[in-house]
Amino acid sequence: MSQEDRGVRTIQLYNQVELPVLGLGTFKARGTALKAIVSCALSCGIRHIDTAGVYKNESEIADALEASGVPREDIFITSKIGPTQQGTGKALLACEEVLQRLRLEYVDLLLIHWPGVAKLEVKSTRNATKRLETWRVLESFYKSGRCRAIGVSNYEQQHLQELLDSAAVKPMVNQIEVHPRYPQRELREFCKQHSIAVVAYASLGCGDLLSHSTVQRAAQECDRTPAQVLLRWGLQQECAVIPKTIHQEYLEQYTAAQLLTWELSSSQLQALDAMDDAHKYCWNPAVVR
Ligand SMILES: NC(=O)c1ccc[n+]([C@@H]2O[C@H](COP(=O)([O-])OP(=O)(O)OC[C@H]3O[C@@H](n4cnc5c(N)ncnc54)[C@H](OP(=O)(O)O)[C@@H]3O)[C@@H](O)[C@H]2O)c1
Repeated sequence: MSQEDRGVRTIQLYNQVELPVLGLGTFKARGTALKAIVSCALSCGIRHIDTAGVYKNESEIADALEASGVPREDIFITSKIGPTQQGTGKALLACEEVLQRLRLEYVDLLLIHWPGVAKLEVKSTRNATKRLETWRVLESFYKSGRCRAIGVSNYEQQHLQELLDSAAVKPMVNQIEVHPRYPQRELREFCKQHSIAVVAYASLGCGDLLSHSTVQRAAQECDRTPAQVLLRWGLQQECAVIPKTIHQEYLEQYTAAQLLTWELSSSQLQALDAMDDAHKYCWNPAVVR
């Protein structure tokens, strides 16, 4: 039975794997709070958990997954190969370590976290060589069945074009910063043309956008919270969303019943779109050659 048949809204990747549109971000979440919020997410029907080697929380996520009793095939786990793990030898080891730490036979989605390589100048041409080596490792991992989909994160159009020009397996996903102040329309359009699904991160502007007057006005108009407005905006851009919180009362606002049963009107979308001032909250990959 597919995720959609089980009532989980998904984006179908070009290889037919279904990526749940509602996920939980886990950057900076650790320990008891992390385990509690992952089990809360799973009991609320959220099936997509986003982690990364650099978050250093994969083993704790494994604890929560095992304790949940939710069947493995119902859960979608994303992890990422970090900037210190780029290049053939390091990436091979990093892929194996992801599975070891998550205590899984396969991961659903594995991403290159960042186009750059630790300790290399951002302008160095070796960044491109190393990230292509990493991609070859992901391709072989995918072909061996140890991940169901592969993709990238923080790739700008030039990084994607370079990858598309030489990949045997094209990327299925690009995980990027997307919110009304930094909507990345051109990059998202490029992804769409190449059948690359977009997962939006920092949908809440790392918390900062919750107090923005335009967001608050829209929330009042539709009797929702500012966070729900921002996530709904992301969903209406055809992105999957992975808000991070360690608070159960916030997470309960981010379930299918709370986010997939209503829409922002075209005038609300217009007002939110007008917030675009190219303001980024996270790291800037445009500088990486
Ligand atoms: N690929 C990448 O390079 C990359 C970069 C950044 C993020 N990500 C992924 O995307 C996820 C989300 O991005 P993010 O964590 O940077 O930012 P975010 O989801 O935009 O915002 C998270 C912040 O908002 C707070 N928050 C959440 N709901 C709230 C509410 N209802 N009221 C008040 N505060 C609220 C959280 O605090 P509390 O936890 O205290 O509630 C946290 O400080 C990350 O966790 C990570 O999984 C990926």
